[in-house]
Amino acid sequence: MTDARRVHTQWSSRMAFILAASGSAIGLGNIWKFPYLTGDNGGGAFVLVYLLCVAALGVPIMMAETMLGRRGRQSPINTMLALADEAKASPLWHYVGWVGVLAGFLILSYYSVIAGWAMAYIPKMSSGMFSHSDAAKAGEVFRELQGSSQLQFIWHTLFMTATMAIVSMGVSAGLEKWTRYLMPLLFVMLILLDGYAMTTGGFGQGIAFLFKPDFSRLGGEGVLAAMGQAFFSLGLGMGAIMVYGSYLPSHVSIARASLFVAAADTIVALLAGVAIFPIVFANHLAPTMGEGLIFQTLPVAFGQMPAGATVGALFFLLMFFAAITSSIALIEPAVAWLSENRGMSRSAAAFWSGAACWLIGLGTIFSFNDWAGYTWFGKNFFELIDFLTSDLMLPVGGVLVAVFAGWIMRPADSEAELEMGAGSGYRVWQFLIRYIAPAGVGLVFLRAVGVI
Ligand code: PFF
Repeated sequence: MTDARRVHTQWSSRMAFILAASGSAIGLGNIWKFPYLTGDNGGGAFVLVYLLCVAALGVPIMMAETMLGRRGRQSPINTMLALADEAKASPLWHYVGWVGVLAGFLILSYYSVIAGWAMAYIPKMSSGMFSHSDAAKAGEVFRELQGSSQLQFIWHTLFMTATMAIVSMGVSAGLEKWTRYLMPLLFVMLILLDGYAMTTGGFGQGIAFLFKPDFSRLGGEGVLAAMGQAFFSLGLGMGAIMVYGSYLPSHVSIARASLFVAAADTIVALLAGVAIFPIVFANHLAPTMGEGLIFQTLPVAFGQMPAGATVGALFFLLMFFAAITSSIALIEPAVAWLSENRGMSRSAAAFWSGAACWLIGLGTIFSFNDWAGYTWFGKNFFELIDFLTSDLMLPVGGVLVAVFAGWIMRPADSEAELEMGAGSGYRVWQFLIRYIAPAGVGLVFLRAVGVI
């Protein structure tokens, strides 16, 4: 191989990782979930805890997961088995991989329903039905969709079929190339919406809500939700990033790639927040609207813009694309395991895992209508699955990854794999991963149950 070709291969491998990891990170979590959780949990204090969690827990754990993936080069379950063997540790560590497979599965079950809403809004937007409409009309349209299990059934089925088709055809890598063009476009659309938000008269109030922390409005569950959202949004704690770590050749800086992905993910979430809250306040809406927040605010903005029907349809199309690149990451650990260990073809593995997610997803659809009255610990089916995965399984999975990378794996191995040079970078990472990640997650759990 000539030098020039080698350099090219290296560059595209790093690019492949960054595109896949950003595709997994940037999704409904940034555009749909971050704004509504911020609204539900009182604003600025939630955002501050979220940012702290991204920086102090998210980035070091993302580095750890990537590093383990690069060293193991298999599905997360088998990677953990191989690395535990290398470290002469208990094979029980492979259960970390299982937590991930299960979490990914459960997340995708409702992720597909919400992505279905985004798909439903593409034709709604382009029909022009929101032209000069007000918040009342936007609310009515959303409630009609959320109230109809038939309509959601159709969109959920379409989204899951698209995910299964892409995963079984093995074209995920091709799809990731699109990420390079479509993610920047999504970014531009959000900036455009931010520009609109400045003209609404609610801008000052929206910004204050987002960035002025008022800790009296953030309870223990809010702190837990902020941490869970950091893991969810970065796509951590379930092995997705481990799978993508295997794209990376050994000389690429894991630290720099992780920082880039975490920064891009955080900026997209903040841009979405800056777009939405001014619209909320300008239209005298409540920020505590829950999972319908963006669907009841953004259409109002598009309805008042020139060419809003087209721009709005394009926005929801991009949101659908962002959701697809995340859903293939959510299902990948299960598909990889089924094909490595059960000898299934990729198509069969994608079909069976997708079908199981689809079935569980019906519970989320019904939780908004027919089953709205059924709650467990005050949560409906959707809220319960979301709580179990984002707030419990992902942080637990993340801490296990941190403990493994920080305490079980030989430091000589992690140092060699991370290649952070002679500076203090490796020590900082080791400190964060050994002490701050377990202590941080532990403290948040204690706070959530009211012990501190
Ligand atoms: N990070 C994705 C989002 O913010 O929408 C969701 C996600 C993808 C979570 C992949 C976990 C994961 F492994």
